Amino acid sequence: MFEISTKDLFLWIRDIKNCRKDIDDFYLLLDLIGGISKTDLFLLKINPQQKVSLKIDFNTLKKKWLEHTQLFKPIQYVCGSSYWRKNKFELTPDVLIPRVETEQIVDIATDIIPEDKKIIFVDLGTGSGSIAISLALENKNWKGLATDIDINALKIAKKNHREISFESNINFFCGNWWEPIKHYAGMINLVVSNPPYIPRKVYESLPSSVMDFEPKKALYGGEDGLSHIKQIISDAPKFLVKGGWLILENHFDQSKKIKNLLQEYGFNSLKTINDSFGIGRFTIGRYK
Ligand SMILES: C[S@@+](CC[C@H](N)C(=O)[O-])C[C@H]1O[C@@H](n2cnc3c(N)ncnc32)[C@H](O)[C@@H]1O
Repeated sequence: MFEISTKDLFLWIRDIKNCRKDIDDFYLLLDLIGGISKTDLFLLKINPQQKVSLKIDFNTLKKKWLEHTQLFKPIQYVCGSSYWRKNKFELTPDVLIPRVETEQIVDIATDIIPEDKKIIFVDLGTGSGSIAISLALENKNWKGLATDIDINALKIAKKNHREISFESNINFFCGNWWEPIKHYAGMINLVVSNPPYIPRKVYESLPSSVMDFEPKKALYGGEDGLSHIKQIISDAPKFLVKGGWLILENHFDQSKKIKNLLQEYGFNSLKTINDSFGIGRFTIGRYK
């Protein structure tokens, strides 16, 4: 641990607050790398101490902040981790930063299927493993399969699983969508996926903090954004049990097209589910 004067820390915080809008990123850095949470800061204010302990030395912490502000590097990559739902996930540039909007996919799945039911679920395109790990942690009777085309992403997902969960209820597979789990054909009760769905024109205008740092293969969905979603839906009937569910995250304007596709491939109970910003972020369907 590295001791600094509390006064120096608060002076630095005051300076940042005066000149930056992304103060939440700053607090995340302090917490994830410095080891000082917002609660710790509050307690320091009401019960002042001369010294405070940081997990890394003050100068390195300041350099990390500059990496974010000068290179526009997302704070989660600077820190190599982030919080998602109830856990802290390790992140590298091989995986997408799990988004807060995506957290809802876990609630949708848990609302559809009773927790005590023994099921097999698949998370297609698991990235850091955030969805699969959260589903398996929150539903102890569920057995998970998590896939990704990127072997380095899978390494992170496996590491996160080892760090976060004591259970061994997820198996990881590398390959193109359904291909690595073909021996599970006809056995899947639930499929969740946050696939790459950004249409070409939108992708080309993404801010540099996303374009320059987040993996293209995690975001880019082809000309209309639907190329991966079409692959996932067209093969889903081979894998799902009758009555099995598919839950997809999508771009704000894709849900109607996705529902048409689902209908074409034998799904019913089609529904668009809004995220907390009122955007039709999720599309669900049940295989007849
Ligand atoms: C939008 S990211 C989602 C990551 C994570 N599930 C999340 O919600 O944060 C999409 C993921 O799909 C993976 N992916 C892209 N193309 C794929 C393919 N053809 N087959 C399997 N996974 C793929 C990417 O590597 C990436 O990890």
